[in-house]
Amino acid sequence: MTTLWAQRYALRTHSMGSSAIRELLKLTQQPDIISFGGGLPAPEMFPTEQVKAACDVVLTEMGPQSLQYSTTEGYPPLRELIVRRMARYGIKVDIDNVVITTGSQSALDLIGKLLINPGDSVLTENPTYLGALQAFTGYQAQYVTVPIDDDGLQVAQLEAALRSGPKFMYILPNFQNPAGVTLSLTRRYDLIALAEEYGIPIVEDDPYGQLRYEGEHIKPLVVLDSEYLGCEGDSGYTGNVIYTSTFSKTLAPGLRLGWIVAPKDVVFKLVQMKQGTDLHSSTFDQMVAYEVARSGFLDKHIRTIREVYGHRRDVMLHAFEEYFPPEVHWTHPLGGLFLWVTTPPSIDTADLLKDAIKEKVAFVPGYSFHPNGGGHNTMRLNFSNAKDEMIVEGIRRMSIAIKQRLAKESPVFALN
Ligand SMILES: Cc1ncc(COP(=O)(O)O)c(C=O)c1O
Repeated sequence: MTTLWAQRYALRTHSMGSSAIRELLKLTQQPDIISFGGGLPAPEMFPTEQVKAACDVVLTEMGPQSLQYSTTEGYPPLRELIVRRMARYGIKVDIDNVVITTGSQSALDLIGKLLINPGDSVLTENPTYLGALQAFTGYQAQYVTVPIDDDGLQVAQLEAALRSGPKFMYILPNFQNPAGVTLSLTRRYDLIALAEEYGIPIVEDDPYGQLRYEGEHIKPLVVLDSEYLGCEGDSGYTGNVIYTSTFSKTLAPGLRLGWIVAPKDVVFKLVQMKQGTDLHSSTFDQMVAYEVARSGFLDKHIRTIREVYGHRRDVMLHAFEEYFPPEVHWTHPLGGLFLWVTTPPSIDTADLLKDAIKEKVAFVPGYSFHPNGGGHNTMRLNFSNAKDEMIVEGIRRMSIAIKQRLAKESPVFALN
């Protein structure tokens, strides 16, 4: 029975249908399925004891203030801490450049709310983060896409897309979700130069930057932009990049704490947007996160996370080599949580997922990460959330499903 509500949904909801994939992925919640589908950090990495102790300190020392409404910009000591931590990565800003958000997902939504008129186009990498598409599509964005390769966004193909006049670019330079690739330094320089030439600003989404397992840190776009414009003065950051990051991957996603760095006038507008959305992010959670992070514990903890996830990445890569047929290719991420696998074009990974679920293993088919379609023979696998034996067993099961599909598509394969 349809209610009165269904006829009253806003136009913006029309392009936000639930996908067949989402329905399939619900099946992967069954306990006997090994799922590489989610983007979940490993729960055994959550600093439960430290959070428990911090809750105690906050309630004892801050008392009712920790349970009270607070400012939209966020808890000043936590913003100061973020400023200090970002400075290590060369991001030199002051506290008035920083707004705390309810996870970086809400940062993306606020950015959409601030910038996107119905029909505006947003330039994204192809593939790109699904959650950003959900946030921006909610404001009726269209997409113009630029392909990626092992060095990230193919900047050589950017100009044509920029000429179409997108409102802004949405870029994931480090260990991109979904493909795990990293934008090279040379391309970062070229990207900033083109952004200035065409006058198109950049939203830089960097949830994984601190989770690097090999290679050297590469300067974020927000830093390169400051250098390019020579705007590293005393008045804080005044450039053309909005940067966002999160505590979800380094502390715990359930705290729902992220942040935005932007020029002060943009912060002022974002704060207005945020007031309408949630008044402020949880006072208590911000104080707890500050308490956990301030002692130096966070640095030690991030080192442990890097070791564990880096190892799991290697286990998955070795399992690919051992089990996957030679027709299948994959990326070698230098950090983050995801690997990207490409099968021969004859395999549709949405069909493959059905077979994989029968083998009790799951992944996310790649086409959902392509804003304008495509990517039917690609898939995303998460390596952070399963222990070694499970990773190896899951990949073995996937290889059965892949080989069966290949045999169906090309009977010659069955002979091998
Ligand atoms: C690229 C990217 N951006 C943003 C988010 C949102 O994270 P959160 O809202 O937990 O900070 C995620 C989560 O997986 C992500 O992968």
